[in-house]
Amino acid sequence: MEAEPCFSSPSVYLKLSRGRWWSSETVAVVTGGNRGIGFAIVKLLAELGLTVILTARDTQKGEAAVNTLRDEYGLNVDFLPLDVSDPSSINSFASSFKAKYGPTLDILVNNAGVSFNDLNDNSVEHAETVIKTNFYGPKLLTQALLPVFRALNADSSPTRILNISSRLGSLNKVINSEIRRVLESENVCEKEIDETVSMFLEDVKMGRWKNRGWPEYWTDYAVSKLALNAYSKVLGKRYDDLRVICFCPGFTRTSMTKGKGTHSPDHAASFAAALALLPPQHLPTTAKFFYLPSIHSKL
Ligand SMILES: NC(=O)c1ccc[n+]([C@@H]2O[C@H](COP(=O)([O-])OP(=O)(O)OC[C@H]3O[C@@H](n4cnc5c(N)ncnc54)[C@H](OP(=O)(O)O)[C@@H]3O)[C@@H](O)[C@H]2O)c1
Repeated sequence: MEAEPCFSSPSVYLKLSRGRWWSSETVAVVTGGNRGIGFAIVKLLAELGLTVILTARDTQKGEAAVNTLRDEYGLNVDFLPLDVSDPSSINSFASSFKAKYGPTLDILVNNAGVSFNDLNDNSVEHAETVIKTNFYGPKLLTQALLPVFRALNADSSPTRILNISSRLGSLNKVINSEIRRVLESENVCEKEIDETVSMFLEDVKMGRWKNRGWPEYWTDYAVSKLALNAYSKVLGKRYDDLRVICFCPGFTRTSMTKGKGTHSPDHAASFAAALALLPPQHLPTTAKFFYLPSIHSKL
């Protein structure tokens, strides 16, 4: 997928809000919304007047985040539990959403993610969890929510999926030319992506991952985001009424970076929200990968 710089300034988001197409009837779900970039995206979408469902794997943390939004910011958002690494939690969430809101989902922000590396580490000890959370999580959740995407059920503007990805998952990080050839093809299919991910996990299991041309920095995390980007292409092609955008928020000060970074979660969220809220006529018709310009990202 071709990477494109994002808008030059967060004020673009303010301009976008003048071309407001959404209302309080517009429904957005954000995964991993209890802290970090996810929390900031929930806050901004709620400030802009959408109906937002904050999800978190830990109910106490999710409810605490909802209370903070209400008590400190005067914002009302709903909460539903969701562990994206657990298929049964994904199915329960999809059923609860359907029962409560019906087929009304306009925006899905796949934000939840993990990395177990310190900034300069490269351990693959938790590769399975990383792949399960960062790749299979968004993939299975998207599939489970297909029956409730508004655009697939009614005559409306396209449903948007914003996958919070990383430039570490860029194709130019892949040294193995065969793996790169498969993933960069515009015709890559779901089976090839799953096979690539399985091959990586097998290389990890067999202790040979270092010599196989996988990305060299935060390897398991990079593979998870590579797979997510490739799957975004598949998804965007499969459904005319879904618009899929990948976004790298850049090196953002959150728990994932142990508080290091060049900017705040709120700053990253302003770009994420701007992408999620692009006016219908500006939505890219094929999956695109945006990143913040002029911000060096170690992720
Ligand atoms: N920070 C950066 O510099 C940076 C750069 C590029 C991309 N990103 C991406 O941005 C996204 C948000 O990261 P962040 O920086 O905000 O990190 P963060 O502060 O560590 O937040 C991660 C969020 O994901 C949730 N989460 C983890 N595993 C989950 C699961 N199985 N099910 C549901 N929720 C789960 C966490 O919940 P708990 O509180 O329960 O752990 C937390 O809410 C991630 O996809 C990350 O890869 C971040």
